[in-house]
Amino acid sequence: MTLLTYLRRKLGLTGTKLGCAEGGCGACTVMVSRYQTHTQQLLHYAVNACLAPLCSLHLVAVTTVEGIGSVARKLHPVQERIARAHGSQCGFCTPGIVMSMYALLRNNPTPKMADVEEAFQGNLCRCTGYRPILEGYKTFTGGCCGGKGRENGCCMANGNGAEKTTPLFTATDFAPFDPTQEVIFPPELMVNTHTPKHKHSELELIHDLNHMGAVLKEMVKTLPPHQNEVFLAVLEQLRWFAGLQIRNVAAVGGNIMTASPISDLNPVFMAAGCKLTLMDKGTHTHTHIHLCDIPGICFLLRSEFTDKTTTLRPQEVLLSIEIPYSKKNQFVSAFKQSPRREDDISIVTAAMSVTITPGTDVVEDLGLSYGGMAATTVLAKKTASRLLGRRWGEGLLEEACSSLAEEMTLDPSAPGGMVTYRQTLTLSLFYKFYLMVLQKLRIYQVTTLTTGFTVPALASRCVSVTCVLQAVPEGRSQDDAVGRPMMHLSALKQATGEAVYCDDVPLYENELYLALVTSSKAHANILSIDSSAAEQMPGVTVIARHQVRLSDQSGDSDSLMSRLVTFLFSVQVTCVGHIIGAVVADTQLHAQRAAKAVRIQYEELPAVVTIQEAIAAQSFYQPIRTIQKGDLEVGFKQADHILEGEMHIGGQEHFYLETNVTLAVPRGEDGEMEVFASTQSASKTQSLVAKALGVPANRVVVRVKRMGGGFGGKESRTTVLSTVVAVAANKLKRPVRCMLDRDEDMLITGGRHPFYGKYKVGFLNSGKVVALDVSYYSNTGNSMDLSLSVLERALFHMENSYSVANVRGRGYLCRTNLPSNTAFRGFGGPQGMMVTESWMNDVAQSLGKPSEEVRRLNLYVEGELTPYNQILDQFTLDRCWDECLSRSVYQERRAAVDLYNRQNRWTKRGLAIVPTKFGISFTAAGALAHIYTDGSVLLTHGGTEMGQGLHTKMVQVASRVLGIPCSKIHISETSTNTVPNTSPTAASASSDLNGAAVQNACETLMKRLEPYKTKNPKGTWEDWVTYFDRVNLSANGFYKTPDLGYDFDSNSGRAFNYFSYGVACSEVEIDCLTGAHRNLSTTIVMDVGHSLNPAIDIGQVEGAFMQGLGLFTLEELHYSPQGVLLTRGPGSYKIPAFGDIPTQLTVSLLRDAPNDKAIFASKAVGEPPLFLAASVFYAIKDAISAARVESGISGPFRLDSPASAERIRNACSDRFTKLCPPAEPGTFRPWSVQV
Ligand SMILES: Cc1cc2nc3c(=O)[nH]c(=O)nc-3n(C[C@H](O)[C@H](O)[C@H](O)COP(=O)(O)OP(=O)(O)OC[C@H]3O[C@@H](n4cnc5c(N)ncnc54)[C@H](O)[C@@H]3O)c2cc1C
Ligand code: FES
Ligand code: FES
Repeated sequence: MTLLTYLRRKLGLTGTKLGCAEGGCGACTVMVSRYQTHTQQLLHYAVNACLAPLCSLHLVAVTTVEGIGSVARKLHPVQERIARAHGSQCGFCTPGIVMSMYALLRNNPTPKMADVEEAFQGNLCRCTGYRPILEGYKTFTGGCCGGKGRENGCCMANGNGAEKTTPLFTATDFAPFDPTQEVIFPPELMVNTHTPKHKHSELELIHDLNHMGAVLKEMVKTLPPHQNEVFLAVLEQLRWFAGLQIRNVAAVGGNIMTASPISDLNPVFMAAGCKLTLMDKGTHTHTHIHLCDIPGICFLLRSEFTDKTTTLRPQEVLLSIEIPYSKKNQFVSAFKQSPRREDDISIVTAAMSVTITPGTDVVEDLGLSYGGMAATTVLAKKTASRLLGRRWGEGLLEEACSSLAEEMTLDPSAPGGMVTYRQTLTLSLFYKFYLMVLQKLRIYQVTTLTTGFTVPALASRCVSVTCVLQAVPEGRSQDDAVGRPMMHLSALKQATGEAVYCDDVPLYENELYLALVTSSKAHANILSIDSSAAEQMPGVTVIARHQVRLSDQSGDSDSLMSRLVTFLFSVQVTCVGHIIGAVVADTQLHAQRAAKAVRIQYEELPAVVTIQEAIAAQSFYQPIRTIQKGDLEVGFKQADHILEGEMHIGGQEHFYLETNVTLAVPRGEDGEMEVFASTQSASKTQSLVAKALGVPANRVVVRVKRMGGGFGGKESRTTVLSTVVAVAANKLKRPVRCMLDRDEDMLITGGRHPFYGKYKVGFLNSGKVVALDVSYYSNTGNSMDLSLSVLERALFHMENSYSVANVRGRGYLCRTNLPSNTAFRGFGGPQGMMVTESWMNDVAQSLGKPSEEVRRLNLYVEGELTPYNQILDQFTLDRCWDECLSRSVYQERRAAVDLYNRQNRWTKRGLAIVPTKFGISFTAAGALAHIYTDGSVLLTHGGTEMGQGLHTKMVQVASRVLGIPCSKIHISETSTNTVPNTSPTAASASSDLNGAAVQNACETLMKRLEPYKTKNPKGTWEDWVTYFDRVNLSANGFYKTPDLGYDFDSNSGRAFNYFSYGVACSEVEIDCLTGAHRNLSTTIVMDVGHSLNPAIDIGQVEGAFMQGLGLFTLEELHYSPQGVLLTRGPGSYKIPAFGDIPTQLTVSLLRDAPNDKAIFASKAVGEPPLFLAASVFYAIKDAISAARVESGISGPFRLDSPASAERIRNACSDRFTKLCPPAEPGTFRPWSVQV
């Protein structure tokens, strides 16, 4: 049993969260403390409770988030500061982050900012964008920069000094941190923990990686520099090795013996000729082997990703490793290239060691070791031997590269894919090593050779942040909370672990657990299902299959239900992960074991997996949508130039930290069912569950307290799980719970639609675009779900912010055998606009004009019509553009980037400014407000809280209308028995809709109280709230967005209520040799109208921006050609981490821009800023262009999204890429395909 299961299930300590169960998210972080008697030291470690076996905790004290403070008792400063600094949105990651910080402070009460960033290497947050967390915790690092942060002084200050602004939080209000007041270590655990003297004290050398790092660091301090080369290489690898929680427990011995082909340490140990000592447990004989010997290589042999065995015999253990001092003329370097810099496994990892004959530049000894290039870490032996005796110069480089290109080859179908990239990396990394050694030889004055190039190293970081928001007008009542940067109302509870999420609901006594049985084939007939073995397994109560035929009952071919049909009733499966049935047992473990024991025989059918396959097979759902305006023929005739292009935009996993979870509880009477669900759609869940159970909707209550993130992923797809769980609960008349494992959630629930865009654009010499013909193809998957609306939004955003007179956009829904894709923040808009920016970029590049100039020339102006004939009024985009240009000092930056690029060959910088215009429209909302006789108000509305701060904003709205402080108002939950028939919480419009409904309800109440206010104007709220006069102190409210209704056939009617606008400018630096990039700076100007809560809105801007950054630069879902999702957890699917925030980040909310179409002149904010991360993508493209110029290549080129390290490297075409040409498509079966 793991510590996490024990805490949550046995002790009921649910503050520690389960996000992935594989050590990749940090949500389960706790602190373990151990007393070391021989040093008399108390050691504290942050560890992942999901990986810690309970048996590993002998004589260890475990501190969980509940143990350090609580709202009821007293908050610990780490809890208070993250909350008050707005660093907790959905809060699911928060306890883990709190505990990482707490463990750091226990070891080091005065950390530096770098220590804080290192402490968070193993923690992920999908909501906040990380900035507020770092800002809050900066206060532990001596407060701030001491006035050295920015030109205008303090790093913590907002605005530029000249601007009047309200601080997001006031650090001086925080309770002081007193490290002497911490909980003491239990004395009963202070027993002699020093292990009895082993016969073989070397065992103690196999310590955790941090310990090894600390030992090496000490040695580096004391030894002469030339002896440290190997140690420094090991330290460099450790710096980027996993996260701190893993390094705290993982041992070097385990890393060696796992024999992973992508081990970061084995290449160093091999290249440096380290020696292992093995012991036979039976005979106690010792064997010494060099890792670089032939037997050493065999010793590490294992087949990639699957077989974990080494050639070690079972009775042999590794006793010690001997890491040698380097020699006087030995130079050693280690390299690691991974998709994400922090906490990620390598794509290619390498270590190189050369010994030069003293006084010369002749190679005496050479070790080149690579991981990620074979089933085991390998030495490039042929290349190394060819280079012996050669002078360290251009000739050696030439030979090394051509030899490595021959020796370090990969099968084009190799597991892990990225074959061309991996091969190129072997050369690129050698070139880096070559340059490093050359520089050192010059210092030693044994060579006069010079390349004119320096070793590329990306700029180091020191994050600086500015947030600019409108100041609260002077004289506004303190009780009027609207417009104030109020903390998320649940933030403190989230930081202490007291906030209750769906899976934190205590276990019912007779509760059962459900596990799903899903298809392993993309398209197949089910021939047979054998559940006999599963039925015999312990704890199994029922195996349910084909219980419900939802679509049969709905009878409506276009209902949401029938669009979600492909579950539970099919004898044919249409995707991998298709739900076939479910197993219910007494515990999660039993249910999951039994589900795995169900045997299914399939008859495989041809599958369509990719968009290109769907196009070839004409596999489309209907309808095909078109929006057309002007005359394309005339437009293209008028154009001076016409260009064509295409772009693929990869999908995205929601990666809400809390996976899908439902608990269904039969009430025992009249078919009543209570469903606790983590869903954005309480009403849809209610209606689908009712239909599945065959009862009217009034028998089903769906309750949503809060979600650990949603992002659209819990809008429609959650109903699938809820329905299955409710059916099981109904059948067994017992409560049934299911929380999907991370891999199941990623496999089953779909994500953002991959898109392929194809365009033809006509433009004038000036850059003015006059004609556009664009087609969008979305990979919809095996059911329609919400895909038509997603595609329509892509079409509505096909011109982004640019005025194009003659335009036609067509949209196709590709029917494929992938799990159905669904809503995701932006809902097709980002994909639509991404293609727009691709052709806009192409236009600028083909004319050789600055892209900023061409974009500005084409920007809409007030009063123009969109392609769907909607007039643009209250247009603020031009203001956002100008403000962004000036805040980012665009022109100076451009000049500096150009200068940098002239001076550097192997790192390049890029700059881009990108606008967004995002249409806001959604349906209706309801609210219910009760005033109790003590004056307290219970508010309910139709929206759900998923971290976006909706409940907080609704309380602020009610506070203004009722004229009472927020502290008197409470929102308990969202439920279908209080506010019925609600819209899903989606489309960014929930504050608009629910805010207006809350306003409506509260105004009704105020009208009823008006006579009492008039009679007693000096009275208090409590005086006016009178029950004895039989005043109804309960009111509901309703709101419907007016005048919406676009018609595709006539291209008329209003598609949107209004638009949100924003502009971002980003600067990046790329390493042309590895494809790595750094986000140097981003300036965002966003129009959110008159913000209801600037802290929450800035949080939304930053969170959306970082999610967009993941979408466009990092996150890659890999599917096999057979439609199997290969990336199913944080280990293989990388979302942005702390280290990915731009080093300089400025977020400004546009001032004085009231919006008369939404509550209190505010604007929607959840989705619109996401697309602004495209500025990073196009800055990368700009930098790649600069690199290509060095190779004599200019003009437009295709760059698909995300701009991963692989794509960046492959696009920076140079002498090394030419040596590694890709295999001819069609001649091999790739490991993964672009879907
Ligand atoms: C989230 C995460 C991130 C990671 N990131 C990285 C990374 O960035 N780079 C990287 O290289 N690795 C990474 N790893 C892999 C990890 O570092 C190694 O698995 C770790 O070093 C193993 O150490 P351990 O003590 O946990 O070994 P264990 O899991 O305890 O052991 C691993 C295997 O080695 C055997 N073994 C252990 N010690 C001995 C011994 N003395 N003699 C004989 N056999 C032995 C065990 O029996 C077992 O089969 C990551 C792992 C996780 C979970
Ligand atoms: S749940 Fe333990 S690291 Fe994710
Ligand atoms: S607040 Fe971090 S994951 Fe939601």
